[in-house]
Amino acid sequence: MRILITGAGGMLGIDVRRAVEAAGHEAIALSRAQLDIRDARAVAEAFAGAAPDAVVNCAAWTDVDGAEEQPDEALAVNGNGAGNLAAAAAASGAWTVHVSSDYVFDGSASRPYVESDPVGPLGAYARSKLAGELAVSREAADHATIVRTAWLFGVGGRCFPKTILRLAAERDHLDVVCDQVGCPTFTGHLARALVDLAAERIPGTLHVAGSGSCSWFDFARAIVERAGLECDVRRIPSERYPTPARRPAYSVLGTERDAPRLPEWTGGLSEFMEQLAPGVTP
Ligand SMILES: NC(=O)c1ccc[n+]([C@@H]2O[C@H](COP(=O)([O-])OP(=O)(O)OC[C@H]3O[C@@H](n4cnc5c(N)ncnc54)[C@H](OP(=O)(O)O)[C@@H]3O)[C@@H](O)[C@H]2O)c1
Repeated sequence: MRILITGAGGMLGIDVRRAVEAAGHEAIALSRAQLDIRDARAVAEAFAGAAPDAVVNCAAWTDVDGAEEQPDEALAVNGNGAGNLAAAAAASGAWTVHVSSDYVFDGSASRPYVESDPVGPLGAYARSKLAGELAVSREAADHATIVRTAWLFGVGGRCFPKTILRLAAERDHLDVVCDQVGCPTFTGHLARALVDLAAERIPGTLHVAGSGSCSWFDFARAIVERAGLECDVRRIPSERYPTPARRPAYSVLGTERDAPRLPEWTGGLSEFMEQLAPGVTP
């Protein structure tokens, strides 16, 4: 298969490219500089030129707090841009695998969210991701898999474990919020599942995230322990770490469909730590 990857310079995009090549497929990996998904004409030309069998859309505005001040810019990428891709893919007979987010939910649940649960985005980023889901469904309904995932971490980008490793090496204690619970997901694991889905062509929405769940506090403590750092990780409530965008308190993803199951997030963390080059400051 020929698989087009958008946002190929991002954290997930880097691992998707690796996974495509490891699976023996041909990767056409385009960074933002090579293809801006807001440009419908450029997107159509990319499909005409590359003639891919599938596209995995890793391109997104991912600055959750920044989206509160620039909601139109976030929407242009995450909503309209996703629609441009799905339309061009459907017109050329290619399958779309689009990446969405647990943040489409409002976090008021007390059991894992499944695909048919009502959405309720809390902020501008979340609304833009929901707009992307709707645009992909509208443009490529029976020719797209929309994958909601969560709390991504990987060696190719800025992520929570890298931040914690850096801060824990500098400080004797860290205060981390304990009342937001989700599913940390290693991009190496997710990328393999996305490539499989490009071939399996399952229509509709699927939840695909690391198995198990934890709070940011639990996640930080596990990171510090794995690294053997002498840093006291302390629990704080979200109100002591105010951010411009509201985040769901509980965004654990379950599935009611035949979605791929990823390994436990703790296993993902082990692989992440192994992949970080020794001596490299995160
Ligand atoms: N990170 C998470 O915790 C998380 C959780 C759930 C879902 N997701 C979703 O997972 C996907 C991948 O996220 P990620 O963590 O890999 O983010 P990332 O590292 O920020 O990668 C996103 C990539 O998209 C590129 N991009 C931005 N605007 C673009 C445009 N107009 N056209 C083409 N490319 C553009 C960015 O390029 P520049 O760097 O040059 O701007 C970047 O390389 C996104 O759909 C995100 O919403 C992420």
